[in-house]
Amino acid sequence: MSIHFTVNNKAMSFDGDIDMPLLWYLRDHVKLTGTKYGCGIAECGACTVHIDGRAVRSCVIPLKNIEGKNIKTIEGLAQGKELHAVQQAWIEEDVSQCGYCQSGQLMAAVDLLNRNADPDDRDISEITNICRCGTYPRIRKAILRAAQIIKEEKL
Ligand code: FES
Ligand code: FES
Repeated sequence: MSIHFTVNNKAMSFDGDIDMPLLWYLRDHVKLTGTKYGCGIAECGACTVHIDGRAVRSCVIPLKNIEGKNIKTIEGLAQGKELHAVQQAWIEEDVSQCGYCQSGQLMAAVDLLNRNADPDDRDISEITNICRCGTYPRIRKAILRAAQIIKEEKL
């Protein structure tokens, strides 16, 4: 059985093991390696992508669950050369350390801001992605900064 979906607005289909996790499809089949493997059990968030606009942990989503869905990865966040507000804020706040968790953090932050344009500290705590380098204080600052950039863009 072949399944159909989009990845970063590009139509794709897959005819193979539909029990394979989405993460492996993204990394091994379409070489979108910005999304990382950390734990494989939905704990760390390194593998976070969006399905129909919501952040999910792609290491535990089998391909059979994505028929007809729209997947977005970190590679699809910028509009051409124009960075997403969250990416801009991440650069301004110099968030990244080793970088391994960061694409997942960004995708989780974008989902949060799409649902809540004015998050407070408690809202930001909804994001449970793990950073072994402890960049959490800078992530918080960058999410608040991104919210401000988005507001300014709308003026
Ligand atoms: S690799 Fe998916 S949550 Fe850790
Ligand atoms: S920046 Fe190193 S794990 Fe988060």
